[in-house]
Amino acid sequence: MTEDEKVLKDPVHGYIYVHDPLIWDLINTREMQRLRRIRQLGCTYFAYPGGDHSRFSHSLGVYEVIRQMIRAFERNNYTWPHEFDRLAMVSGLLHDVGHAPFSHALEKTMGVRHEKWSVAIIRDPSTEVHQVLERAEAGLADRVADVIQKTFPNRLIVSMVSGQLDADRLDYLMRDSLATGVDYGTFDLARIIRVIEPITDRLVVRKSAIHTVEAYLLARYFMYWQVYFHPVSRAGEVLLQTILRRAQDLMAEGTGLDFPHPALRSFLAGTMDLEEYLSLDDSALYNAFSVWRMGADPILSDLCARFLDRHLLKELAWPAEQDVLLESVRELVASHGYDPNYYCIVDETGTVYYDYYLGSNREPNQENAIWLYERATGNLTEMSSVSLPIQAIASEHHPVRRLYVPWEVSVDKRFDTLVHDTNGGL
Ligand code: NI
Repeated sequence: MTEDEKVLKDPVHGYIYVHDPLIWDLINTREMQRLRRIRQLGCTYFAYPGGDHSRFSHSLGVYEVIRQMIRAFERNNYTWPHEFDRLAMVSGLLHDVGHAPFSHALEKTMGVRHEKWSVAIIRDPSTEVHQVLERAEAGLADRVADVIQKTFPNRLIVSMVSGQLDADRLDYLMRDSLATGVDYGTFDLARIIRVIEPITDRLVVRKSAIHTVEAYLLARYFMYWQVYFHPVSRAGEVLLQTILRRAQDLMAEGTGLDFPHPALRSFLAGTMDLEEYLSLDDSALYNAFSVWRMGADPILSDLCARFLDRHLLKELAWPAEQDVLLESVRELVASHGYDPNYYCIVDETGTVYYDYYLGSNREPNQENAIWLYERATGNLTEMSSVSLPIQAIASEHHPVRRLYVPWEVSVDKRFDTLVHDTNGGL
């Protein structure tokens, strides 16, 4: 531990400090370095030109938030299990190590969530990450994997990495907001770190900081609407998924699809092994798109050109009641010369801004609560029970539903007539 301190400049935290050689060795593994080549926000750069930062800087940021939280606990003499300091920081650093190219956009295509890959990378003896962890401490790889998949017995450590006020959210909201320029996504991170307190098995917040926490939750709400659900970000994701679906269909037909990267075949077939998975990054896909653009299939070629040139599909609000019109819209799309299977797509997404009430019966989930703590009395109060703005955004799943079609179709008068006639001439 007496090695030189390493200091990295960072736009969110000013500086990121590394004292433990284990952290430095992990940063320098092949699997962590791969995250430099994966965009944190997938296709958001189509909407916000600045939003093309990497998973790598976010991962360092999560480590730094956890490091700062632990230092704040120390300064305040809070009861905190310091034997887990290293485990918490390592888990924060590695929590996203299994991310797919373009972050979340491809999880749907592959049918596997990134956490599964993260755990596989950490557990597999062939990876550098695993070897570095096990060299430092026997069994550490398994403990880190348990924290990331939330099965580690100490809930404090788990909630620090994934919870309502975890280091992951704290870092990505600030980072994404700074990078995109959406400045109402920022909040007082330094104060949040200062007012978080570990109490037995949970992290709580000092009650006097209620407005700081409100600002954080509202920032999350704004970021979802302005950035993560932005119609143009979603248009990029829709196109990305459609390109891969077309490629999968061509592969199934056996029509001589090119595989510019050797792992693409098993990627599209959903049979990738770990080594193949780690060989893929954003640039492998860009390269495939450039090659497919010049290929023989007119649909795949057009979709790839649209993605590379940002000639995206156009969005229209599409409530579920309008699904009865889909067949007619598909005919309209076909009348413009487009195959509706690839050029008429309903995109559905949504989130809960504060996960206390989950599920259709809206039963509160104690583990997902933010607790306000009064030191003098020891009282714990759940956030939404005393905060009007949080009450307003807490309880519901907020769905976003849109239809994506080529621009020519979206401005076709017949499209308007179709929708308005069914809405009683609204
Ligand atoms: Ni993350």
